[in-house]
Amino acid sequence: MDKKQKLEYIWGAIKRAYPKRKLVFNDGSPDSQIMIIGEAPGVDEEIQGKPFVGRAGKLLNATLETLGWQRSDFYVSNIVKYRPTDEFGRNRTPTPEEIEKFRAAIEKEIEAVDPKIVVLLGKVAMSGLGVEGAMGENRGKVFDKFNRKVLITYHPAAILRNINWEANFRSDLSKIRELLDA
Ligand code: URA
Repeated sequence: MDKKQKLEYIWGAIKRAYPKRKLVFNDGSPDSQIMIIGEAPGVDEEIQGKPFVGRAGKLLNATLETLGWQRSDFYVSNIVKYRPTDEFGRNRTPTPEEIEKFRAAIEKEIEAVDPKIVVLLGKVAMSGLGVEGAMGENRGKVFDKFNRKVLITYHPAAILRNINWEANFRSDLSKIRELLDA
């Protein structure tokens, strides 16, 4: 199977597992060497059927653009493929059980895309993919996992809440280029 077929296969399996859910899969280029992984889609992502297209996604794109990248330079996805909601229909953090259910799929997705670098945005993506510790201590650091370089940084929604972290967010993301050239 080529890369596209592998991703189609994974997407098909996810759709079969959650036939009643509105699901959001990927965006960007499967041939990219850089895979960006977030937590779960929000309302805008659910409507448009693509990850990171709402406010957090716009901030992510804008930050990457200041570093000379375009969104299409990356492959973008989330661990959880549906929008977790509370009893009032508001976004909520995925539960550990939800993350566990999607873990095999995201690991297969990483294998299929086969990027050199994986960027994990936020605590849920970080701990969901097995990197232990606090965001404050891990951000900006690079871990060896899945035989690849895994860079940790904040979730862009956290930057929207705390603009003081923006400089760190940008400096963490600037490491992508160094890692790529290494
Ligand atoms: N937050 C995420 O983690 N993923 C998205 O796709 C959008 C917002």
